[in-house]
Amino acid sequence: MKTQVAIIGAGPAGLFLAHILKRQNIESIMLEARSREHVEARVRAGVLEAGTIDTLNHLGLGERMAREGLVDRGLDIRFRGRTIHMDFPSLVGRSVCIYGQQEVVKDLVAARLAAGDPLLFDAEVVRLEGLQSATPRVHYRHHGADRTLDCVFVAGCDGFRGVSRASVPGSAIDLHVRHYDFAWLGVLVKAPPLPDMTYANHDRGFALCSRRSLSVSRLYLQVPSSDRPENWSDAQIWSELHARMFDESGRQVKEGEIFQRDMAQLRAFIASPMQYGNLYMAGDAVHIVPPTGAKGLNMAVADARVLARGIVQYFSGHSRAELDRYSEQCGLRVWKTIRYSAYMTGLLHRFAEHSTFDRGMQMAELEYIAGSEAAQRSIAEQYVMLSDVTD
Ligand code: APR
Ligand code: PHB
Repeated sequence: MKTQVAIIGAGPAGLFLAHILKRQNIESIMLEARSREHVEARVRAGVLEAGTIDTLNHLGLGERMAREGLVDRGLDIRFRGRTIHMDFPSLVGRSVCIYGQQEVVKDLVAARLAAGDPLLFDAEVVRLEGLQSATPRVHYRHHGADRTLDCVFVAGCDGFRGVSRASVPGSAIDLHVRHYDFAWLGVLVKAPPLPDMTYANHDRGFALCSRRSLSVSRLYLQVPSSDRPENWSDAQIWSELHARMFDESGRQVKEGEIFQRDMAQLRAFIASPMQYGNLYMAGDAVHIVPPTGAKGLNMAVADARVLARGIVQYFSGHSRAELDRYSEQCGLRVWKTIRYSAYMTGLLHRFAEHSTFDRGMQMAELEYIAGSEAAQRSIAEQYVMLSDVTD
């Protein structure tokens, strides 16, 4: 097999890239290690920034999001029994949309297959060859058979544990890592959520109330990294959520049937540069952010947009200038997004190493935000449009 762009991974990074390229008449073949069912069922975050909403709409793929997504006009932070409310439209003129990442993935997969464009599931890439040559070759295993795919460019959109980054010699890539010694226990619940995205900083730890629909809540609790979802009874989860999300005058979290639970370790990680020869990497393959700023999906989409621009220029403008600068063009945005995600994580969590001095600083910062529209605008601006890129 032969194609212009071999895309490894059918997560948001790979799927957005494939669709943007297709609109510019550039062909690609997508190889995804897992099954369609697996990819479509993975529960992940679900906050779409303004630029991500616009990208889906420009691709003509925003119809179900417009119907089923929830416009989230506000961000609330609860602490000391009260709530800071930030109204996105009045602070920054745009809002975010809550639409589960797996719903985005379902829409993009369906559109790709409906158009008859190649997307192979159960096709695990095992080795990349000739990345520094003009004829890279992708080796993959499909239904038990070894196959190869020749291409002009390889797009490594294969997530944190993928084969792409692992194929780059260690001397050609720098890794920057921050470890957090806590995780998020996440649950999906059949109960109406709080009307706004609500984060909480409490003495007992962080909590978050997000939504998936008007009748399904997505709730999170900060837990130690060593914890396990099955260690928590439903009653313990509710008691912890009520305590951490408490607001003297606000609405309380509503209980309902917990029908899904998972745990995600918090970490921050950047690999740079995001390219090596004719391999270009995007999304979780080259950076992971702690989920507190809700940025993972949006970063992946922004990378895909920048990468697509370079590939289009190569095939239609016969210049490699944009591609050569791909990593450089992404770098500043990626670092700003890591910074914001680390800032929100630091602002809202309890840290074992924090002294009473550190805790006092955290509370003083929250008090400052509560009383400053400028501080609120800064938080809202980054929440709604930090991943914006121009096409
Ligand atoms: N061959 C083929 N596919 C692979 C391989 C491989 N060797 N290794 C990994 N993959 C696939 C995975 O099965 C997965 O479907 O690559 C895909 C990567 O998708 P994501 O992990 O969703 O990463 P990305 O597209 O960068 O999206 C970033 O996803 O992890 C969340 O929070 C993150 O929201 C962010 C978003
Ligand atoms: C989610 O809806 O899953 C969600 C929302 C906000 C975050 C992280 C996850 O910061």
